[in-house]
Amino acid sequence: MVKVAILGAAGGVGQPLSLLLKLSPFISELSLYDVQNPEGIATDLSHINTNSVCTGSDKKDLQRALTGAQVVVIPAGLARKPGMTRDDLFRVNASIVRMLCLEIGKTCPEATVLVISNPVNCLVPVAAETFRECGCFDAGRVLGITTLDIVRAESFLGDVLRKTSGQPQNKGTMGQKISVIGGHSGKTIVPILLEKSVQETVGLRAYEALINRIQFGGDEVIQAKKGAGSATLSMAYAGYEFTSAILESIVHGGASPNTKKRAHLPAYVYLPDLPHGAEAQSKLGTTAVTYFSLPVVIRSGRVVDVDVSILDNLTTLEKQMVSVAVPPIASNIDKGRNYVAKPA
Ligand code: NAD
Ligand code: LMR
Repeated sequence: MVKVAILGAAGGVGQPLSLLLKLSPFISELSLYDVQNPEGIATDLSHINTNSVCTGSDKKDLQRALTGAQVVVIPAGLARKPGMTRDDLFRVNASIVRMLCLEIGKTCPEATVLVISNPVNCLVPVAAETFRECGCFDAGRVLGITTLDIVRAESFLGDVLRKTSGQPQNKGTMGQKISVIGGHSGKTIVPILLEKSVQETVGLRAYEALINRIQFGGDEVIQAKKGAGSATLSMAYAGYEFTSAILESIVHGGASPNTKKRAHLPAYVYLPDLPHGAEAQSKLGTTAVTYFSLPVVIRSGRVVDVDVSILDNLTTLEKQMVSVAVPPIASNIDKGRNYVAKPA
């Protein structure tokens, strides 16, 4: 049984994510940390009759919140409002993530850390460089959560296929018809069809509209919420799915027997230290991209490799999307790394 800490637990993502994780049979303690009344959330959730214990900790108790945590999920920080890019969140959120990671590095250096806060493309390097400084960096344990992109891709593709065929579609088949690689912002989000015939089935115009909707799904939610924030509920579901894949792998030792649906979920990871990371970089045609979201292999609570086979047989359009994604990801990585090297 596992202690999971959620940092930013009282927020729009943090609250529904905490609720979903309260239902997980693999958690012994749900440690809810926030700078704003985490006790209220912990007390409320603790009335649910599942086995995990809920504890709430605020600023003065970060160390207590992290002590013994094997998995730390970070949805702390500012969210976008209409007209903002994820990049606009960088200054504030980089300082929050760095501060949290400095404490993780001291208190639970062996935890697997799942970064939800935006901009993910920059903040995973911020977290990783902070852990490097603390002497505890492990590429398999610092992961950027891009699961929402694949959740959206499955859902939106289901909508298109339903329209085309007139038949209801099974949308819950993550990573079977479509996957998503790259980063987590606009054109760095690269949807990849695993069933290439889909493009012909739905037609080029519908396919291009689908790509655009996946890449800018976050903006669709922000506009619909009319200034009240960005995606929270769908992110909570996505975060729950990825965290569950990690938890099941801890509890079941090796690969979980019942995680077919979650096998090969993508995550944004540091490639050079993973067995097939260099091969991924060579297939991407650059070593400038040290972080990239690819389907990951999870064992015993950590990512042990990336699955590079997704980079074979890309269509011309998919290759173009990858080449458009690479330069902004490389510069996002530099921005994150430089922030730690010389914080402004
Ligand atoms: P929110 O403003 O509703 O909640 C953020 C929470 O973080 C608040 O409760 C706040 O008190 C807390 N917080 C602020 N500083 C903190 C600190 N130093 N330590 C701990 N907690 C702190 O925002 P939200 O809608 O929950 O979004 C949170 C983050 O998640 C944003 O950066 C958003 O862009 C990101 N996000 C990412 C994805 C993704 O796909 N990776 C999806 C949705 C949202
Ligand atoms: C999303 O994709 O919904 C999140 O990254 C939040 C945002 O800012 O769009």
